Amino acid sequence: MLMIPGPTPVPEKALLALAKHPIGHRSGDFSQIMAEVQENLKWLHQTQNDVLILTASGTGAMEAGIINFLKRGDRVLCGCNGKFGDRWAEVATAYGLNVEIISAEWGQPLDPEKFREVLEADTEKQIKAVILTHSETSTGVLNDLETINRHVKNHGEALIIVDAVTSLGAVNLPIDEWGLDVVGSGSQKGYMIPPGLAFVSVSPKAWEAYKTADLPRYYFDLGPYRKTAAKNTNPFTPRLICFMLSR
Ligand SMILES: Cc1ncc(COP(=O)(O)O)c(C=O)c1O
Repeated sequence: MLMIPGPTPVPEKALLALAKHPIGHRSGDFSQIMAEVQENLKWLHQTQNDVLILTASGTGAMEAGIINFLKRGDRVLCGCNGKFGDRWAEVATAYGLNVEIISAEWGQPLDPEKFREVLEADTEKQIKAVILTHSETSTGVLNDLETINRHVKNHGEALIIVDAVTSLGAVNLPIDEWGLDVVGSGSQKGYMIPPGLAFVSVSPKAWEAYKTADLPRYYFDLGPYRKTAAKNTNPFTPRLICFMLSR
C-alpha cells in the first residue's frame, strides 16, 4: 500500500458503489441522501455550523473560504510554511486582499507567538482574517492551530480560516469547541472517497461577514449553497456518485 496523503485508498464497498447509475439530484431519493450526509458531516466536523458541499477539489474550498467573507483590500495574515500555506497567500493576493505573511521554514511549524505579537499590536482591529493550513501536506508538519486560534479569539475581530484538507478526519479538529469560523476539506483525503467534493464549514460569525463581503463570486457563492442545503438539495448538479458513497 502506498501511504501518500491523497488520493487515499478507497474501500472496496465504495469502489463497487461507483458502478451504480447516478440518480436525479432533484429527486426525493437524493434529498434523503443529502439529509443523511449533512448530519454525518456535522458529526465529522464536530460542529453545529453549516457544512456545505461543493463539487470541486480542496482548492475550491479554499477559494470559497476567502471570497465569501472578505472585502477588497482587507488586511489578512497568512501562515506560510509549505506549498499549501503559500497557496492561501496566492488566492488571497489574486482577490486583491492586503496579505501579510507570517512564515516559517519549510519543515518547521508556524510559531504561534508571531501571530500573537501581530494580533496584539493591531489595536485598531484592521486584521480581518487569519488564514492558515492545519496539516501542511507538503512537509507533513501539523501547525498548532489551537494556540494560534486562541490568539485570534483574543483579538476578537478577525475570522480564522483553516485549510483542513489533510487534517479533517485524521486528527482531532473540534470546530465548535475551538470556535473555528471557516474550515475547508476535500473528499479524497480523510473521507476515503474519490476526489471531486469539497466541504466548507461556516460559523455564524463568518455568515455575518458574508453580508458585507464584496469579492467577485458566482459558482462558489456560499449563500445559494446554504439556502438549498436547508432543503436538502444543491444549487448545481453535484458530483452525485460521491454523495452516494458518502453515506
Ligand atoms: C493541505 C492541502 N491543502 C489543499 C490541497 C489542495 O487540494 P486539491 O488538490 O484537492 O485542490 C491539498 C492537496 O493535497 C492539501 O494537502
